[in-house]
Formats: sequence, C-alpha cells, structure tokens
Amino acid sequence: MGDSPSATLSRELLPQALSLPSLAALMDSGAGDALASTWLLHAAIEFTSRCNLRCVYCAVSQPDYVGSDLAPEYAFAVVQDLAKLGMPTVALNGHGETLLRDDWVAFARNVLDAGFQVHITSNLSRHLQDEELGVLARFHTIRVSVDTADPGLLRRMRRRVDLGTILANILRIRARSRLLGTTPPRFAASCGIYAQNSRLLSELAHLFQEAGFVKVDFWNYVPYATVPTAENALPVSALSIAEQTEVLQSVLRAMEILHRAGIEVTAAGDLLDALASRIEAASCRSEAQPDVRRDSAP
Ligand SMILES: C[S@@+](CC[C@H](N)C(=O)[O-])C[C@H]1O[C@@H](n2cnc3c(N)ncnc32)[C@H](O)[C@@H]1O
Ligand code: SF4
Repeated sequence: MGDSPSATLSRELLPQALSLPSLAALMDSGAGDALASTWLLHAAIEFTSRCNLRCVYCAVSQPDYVGSDLAPEYAFAVVQDLAKLGMPTVALNGHGETLLRDDWVAFARNVLDAGFQVHITSNLSRHLQDEELGVLARFHTIRVSVDTADPGLLRRMRRRVDLGTILANILRIRARSRLLGTTPPRFAASCGIYAQNSRLLSELAHLFQEAGFVKVDFWNYVPYATVPTAENALPVSALSIAEQTEVLQSVLRAMEILHRAGIEVTAAGDLLDALASRIEAASCRSEAQPDVRRDSAP
C-alpha cells in the first residue's frame, strides 16, 4: 500500500504483524508493506468473515467459502497498537458481518473507549438488542447495505432481509443517541447495481432521502459463480444495449435525486464508464453498418 492512508488488518495480515513486537514498531521500522505509511488515517478490522446472511451476489454464498473469526486477543491487541499510532478512524468490518459475533459489543466498546471514530458497514438485518443499540449509537458512520426499495426483490437477493427491520433499527439507533445525548451516527448506504434492481433506483433514492442518509455508494456487481437454488443477480452487461441505456438513465436520475437532496453520491469502480462505453461502442458499430436499403437500391 505504500503511502496509502489506510490499511485493512485482515486475518491474513494480522498473524504476520502480531508475530512482531507491535504495529507501532512496524510503523517505526518501515517494515511491512501495508503499514509503511507514516500518515495512516484509517484501518479496517475484519472481526469476522462469517455472516448471518447469504446474499446471492456475495462471495459468502459460494459453496467453497469459509468464514473465520479474528481471535479476541489479536483484536484487542491491535486496537491498542492502532491507538498508539494516533490514527483517527477505524472501520469494524471487512467481509462478513461484525454484528454476528456474540462478543462484538465488548470489542466495539473497546474501540470506542480508545477514542476512535468508529465506522461500520453492516446488513443491520436482525432486530438489535438493547446493549447493541447503546454501542451503535456512539458510532460515527453506519453504512447499511440496501439495494432496492422492493421488499420482495430485497428478500430474493439478500435472503432473509426485511426492509422494515433495517429501517426500525436505524430509527432506534438514532433515538438511543438522543437519549444518551450523543451525536447520532451518520447513515450511509452501500448499494449494488445489477440487472434486477437497475431500473428501479429513483424510488430507492427517495427512500434514502426519507431515511435521512447522508451518503450513497453505488457499486457495480462483480459476478461470482452462479448460486444453485436461488435467483441470481445478473450483471447489467448481460442486458441488451437498449436496456443498458435505460440503466444508465436510471442511475443518473437516482444520482440527480440524491444530489438535489444534498446527499453525497459515489459510483465505485467503472460502473458509469463501462456502461457509457458499451453504449457508445454499440452506437459506433451501428453507424458503421452499411445502409442495406440504400446499397440495394437500383
Ligand atoms: C461484503 S459486505 C460486508 C458488510 C456487511 N455484511 C454488509 O453486507 O453490509 C460489504 C459490501 O460488499 C457488497 N458486495 C457484496 N457482494 C458484492 C459483489 N459481488 N460485488 C460488489 N460488491 C459486493 C455488499 O453489498 C456490501 O455492501
Ligand atoms: S450480508 Fe454482507 S457479507 Fe453477508 S452475504 Fe450479504 S453482502 Fe455478503
């Protein structure tokens, strides 16, 4: 990562890092690629790569996927080391669902008490318990994965997810912050774009606005192998050019709604560029086609 301001401390990196005296020592020595920066601003700790869901488009649904947990002693040690480095922000997720682990509350409290701004990307899909609300109410940013306002489609793609549960959790976390007298977390959305949801984005944009989200990150679906016995997400590139043109218009309309509502929007990867270039290439091909009627005219 060189001079990158962030590093992900995954299961792969941690055992290697922790066999050395500490992350702070690693930083001082300049050893270790991901930790060589002297201005690390953000770290992500993958507390678990297991998940309570099996979203059809996610690696977790692949038959050979194996999730695992970060050992508690590593997790707590790394927080102490990150605190010594003076970085402001820690995200508590990688792949998987942090809120799945029984001990996530104790771990998150430890990170908050160490003085970090805490971020998380979560599915927020199950009814939150009282002490979970108290901890999430102290987070800086909670990014929720939601990619459709259609409850049926959401259930087919992010299986066992109920939009009502997610929205109730958001309201309850905000209410708990008010009760504690803390600033409520900023809510953001992580929103995949695939064929099935790609032309229904305006209503979703309005839903994000009504739910008080401050940021929406659209991402281009990166396909894995087909999941048997489920409806699979289709990449938008599988649609006809006319349909992809509608998708591009739909994404741009949703972005416009969000912009007008003052919501920050990002489009990850090549989502817009890839769509635009496929549409342009098809239009060039059709212009290059000889006009059969004119050529065949006597
Ligand atoms: C892997 S999840 C981990 C956090 C948490 N379990 C959640 O779903 O919010 C992080 C993000 O990756 C997105 N994601 C899942 N599968 C993807 C894929 N095939 N291509 C791009 N993003 C994907 C998810 O929708 C989610 O917003
Ligand atoms: S909730 Fe997140 S980690 Fe779990 S299957 Fe869905 S996208 Fe993957």
